[in-house]
Amino acid sequence: MQGKKLLVTGGAGFIGGNFVQYMINKYPQYDINNLDGLTYAGDLTKHREIEKKENYHFMKADIADREAILPLFEKEKFDYVVHFAAESHVDRSITDPEIFVRTNVLGTQVLLDAAKQMEVTKFVHVSTDEVYGELELDSSTLFTEETLLQPNSPYSASKASSDFLVRAYHETFGLPVNITRCSNNYGPFHFPEKLIPLTISRVVNNQKVPVYGDGKNIRDWLHVHDHCAALDLVLHEGVTGEVYNIGGHNERTNLDVVKTIMTTLGKSEEFIEFVPDRLGHDKRYAIDPTKLEKLGWKPTYTFETGIAQTIEWYVENKWWWEQIISGEYKNYFKKHYSLDQS
Ligand code: NAD
Ligand code: DAU
Repeated sequence: MQGKKLLVTGGAGFIGGNFVQYMINKYPQYDINNLDGLTYAGDLTKHREIEKKENYHFMKADIADREAILPLFEKEKFDYVVHFAAESHVDRSITDPEIFVRTNVLGTQVLLDAAKQMEVTKFVHVSTDEVYGELELDSSTLFTEETLLQPNSPYSASKASSDFLVRAYHETFGLPVNITRCSNNYGPFHFPEKLIPLTISRVVNNQKVPVYGDGKNIRDWLHVHDHCAALDLVLHEGVTGEVYNIGGHNERTNLDVVKTIMTTLGKSEEFIEFVPDRLGHDKRYAIDPTKLEKLGWKPTYTFETGIAQTIEWYVENKWWWEQIISGEYKNYFKKHYSLDQS
């Protein structure tokens, strides 16, 4: 395959960071450009092994800063854009919704304008299954690409708004886009405010794990590597204008996930602490990935193999998450939960 110039937004975050590494290994002939504003969730230490490569470049910029983004696109003339940059944590969207609108909606619109002006070959917008709203706990219904968008949190509402803008730029201006909607990811470099890395890091440090409500809410888990492979396929083979759901049929209750981690790490369930529920807590997410499977994708990890690999990674890479939990994030955690840090 010929060399291409790829822009990854949010490549200092969890999924974008894994995607940068996946693409640089798979396509050494590509020029990989990581644009990130380095918010609390952005971290470049994860790229220390690739940062000296000639075909990797980092650019610090805010996607909502039109004055910075348009000239950058004019100068760099990217072929492809894969857009991850976002505020991504539901709990933060409940306490501070405004930044979610600025980054996720306005930021996406600025990128769309730049992509349109510079006629990029493909713009992949990385969205989420949360835009579909929630499913009942006792149903077997799955989200398909035709499911009505009924976002419930400020986070998912901002993502759904950005999806509509991406669709509009395709319909109105003919911008070659794809929208992907993936289920919950887990894997290396997952920021320790999210359920799985939070549980692993706290259990390793002998701290209690906060489980919201009764712990019976269901999420559909996918290893981040399989998400990256799906995005690679959509970038190169996705039919322009189409939406693709991404998920691997791995529905688990939160309590099951937490208990699996505790058992693997040899800890008892005494480490579970039930805490007040998240406001507007979506009951269940579950993805029907048939359309993507027809394009040629299938996941390589089951939940069992993926969670084992992830726990091992966190145990071996304590240096990475410890620098985060001892920094600014420590104050957020103290404020957000009434759990002590001991
Ligand atoms: P993350 O919070 O780990 O990373 C987000 C990155 O975006 C960070 O590096 C941050 O610095 C950067 N960023 C934030 N605001 C920015 C701005 N204004 N300008 C430039 N950069 C900015 O998020 P994640 O979990 O890796 O999610 C990435 C994308 O995937 C998001 O769009 C999210 O909606 C979507 N998604 C996430 C999941 C999941 O389970 N984590 C599942 C489906 C879809
Ligand atoms: O479904 C895709 C989405 O998955 C992405 O779009 C989001 O960016 C990503 O953050 C994730 O959202 P969730 O809200 O599902 O993930 P989170 O890890 O925050 O929570 C997973 C479940 O665990 C949810 O039901 C809430 C619960 N939970 C979470 C935390 C942080 C707890 O019980 N305790 C916790 O401390």
